[in-house]
Amino acid sequence: MKSKFTQIGFVLSAAGSAIGLGNVWKFPYMTGENGGGAFVLIYLITIFFVGITLFIAEVVLGRLSRTDPVGTFETLATKHGKKWKYAGFAIIGSMLIASFYMVIIGWILKYMYEMFVNLPSTIEASSAIFGGFVTADFNMQFILFNLVFFIVFFIVSKGIKGGIEKANLILMPLLILILGFMLFYSFSMDGFGKSFEFLFYPDFSKVTGKTIITAVGQAFFTLSLGVGTIMTYGASLSDDTNIVKSSFQVAFLDTFIALMAGLIIFTLIFQYNAEPAQGSGLVFISLPTLFYQLGSFGNIIGMLFFVALAFAGITSAISMIEPSVFFMIKRFKFSRVKALFAVGAPVYIFGTMSLMTNIDNLKRFVTYFGIGFFDILDKLTTLWMMPISGVCVAVFTGYFVKKELVYNLLSKHMSDTLFNIWYFAIRYVAPISVIIILINGIIGS
Ligand code: TRP
Repeated sequence: MKSKFTQIGFVLSAAGSAIGLGNVWKFPYMTGENGGGAFVLIYLITIFFVGITLFIAEVVLGRLSRTDPVGTFETLATKHGKKWKYAGFAIIGSMLIASFYMVIIGWILKYMYEMFVNLPSTIEASSAIFGGFVTADFNMQFILFNLVFFIVFFIVSKGIKGGIEKANLILMPLLILILGFMLFYSFSMDGFGKSFEFLFYPDFSKVTGKTIITAVGQAFFTLSLGVGTIMTYGASLSDDTNIVKSSFQVAFLDTFIALMAGLIIFTLIFQYNAEPAQGSGLVFISLPTLFYQLGSFGNIIGMLFFVALAFAGITSAISMIEPSVFFMIKRFKFSRVKALFAVGAPVYIFGTMSLMTNIDNLKRFVTYFGIGFFDILDKLTTLWMMPISGVCVAVFTGYFVKKELVYNLLSKHMSDTLFNIWYFAIRYVAPISVIIILINGIIGS
């Protein structure tokens, strides 16, 4: 089994990780709730100044150590390697995210079918369908979760080259094609102009502290930073891959898809005078009613949209499983299959528990301290683990890894000036801004 990415394989796989429910589901609804253009602008600035900086750092660390995140912190540290090792356990975060993320991909599979057979004509009907499914239909959700679980683990079982790279080489172009088709279709609608204006004309009167924090947090989540995912993919990079160029390409693709999804969804919203600020139900509740307006063509478009979302989700879920599998293989010399079982068991149990959280008559079994298990996983990872680990990556790269090592690797692909800017960003800009997100997350929760 070959174990390294080709350059294009790496770009598509890292982009496959980055592009997920965060782009197509979360980004549009957050933009809607936060007033549009100004939010988008802050998000773009953060992707550029903090996101790409940390992304490059994670790739560099993985590439230098060529091992799992725990081993990476341990071996690259100029001092306190035994303590730094614990920063690598952020990979546990990726397993936790995978658990509830796969439940949502299950919903998407249901909607792929639902869009094809039955589009709701009103918001009330649509909420009733979604609510009934999520809060009462344990069996269907469980079956779909199992299906997603099986698909994701099957791909990871085939390894980096034969599984992960191959799946991404097929699914990512298909995703871009489907969204491209939808975008092309929305050009012809009157709502397109308004959608464009909503996303790209910033209205700063709508910016509050919360807008900034949300935009920064989203930039972080969307690039899959802070739980060892990118570091793990970096460890399987071939020697001649241009790290800087690839990182920019991934960030570009990720941003491009988010904006594309936003343009498509808001075109439909404005075309039919729907409300842009409707929160997390935007994709599952409002969008189906807008597809309904398109007649039977809406069935096709609707189904394709959820197919695209499923692809985006699956390639991201793969990237949440691989770090822990890679860790077991490297550290305990497990075979890939054995590692899959070791990682699969907790993910399966936590996934089932997250699923139960939404079911009305099962909820009480998985509610701890008044919070449902689903939310515990979500909050624990996005509010705590990812930002803390992001600070660790920045501080570690900036202060605890030999500068020459990093410079030797990066100077092949960037000018000295650019290197110095990046190094300044990793030492000061990234850690300070992430600490600010963290503090605000704590205060806000
Ligand atoms: N970036 C993905 C999205 O936008 C989610 C994701 C994949 C992720 N791998 C991750 C998030 C690792 C955090 C950590 O949906």
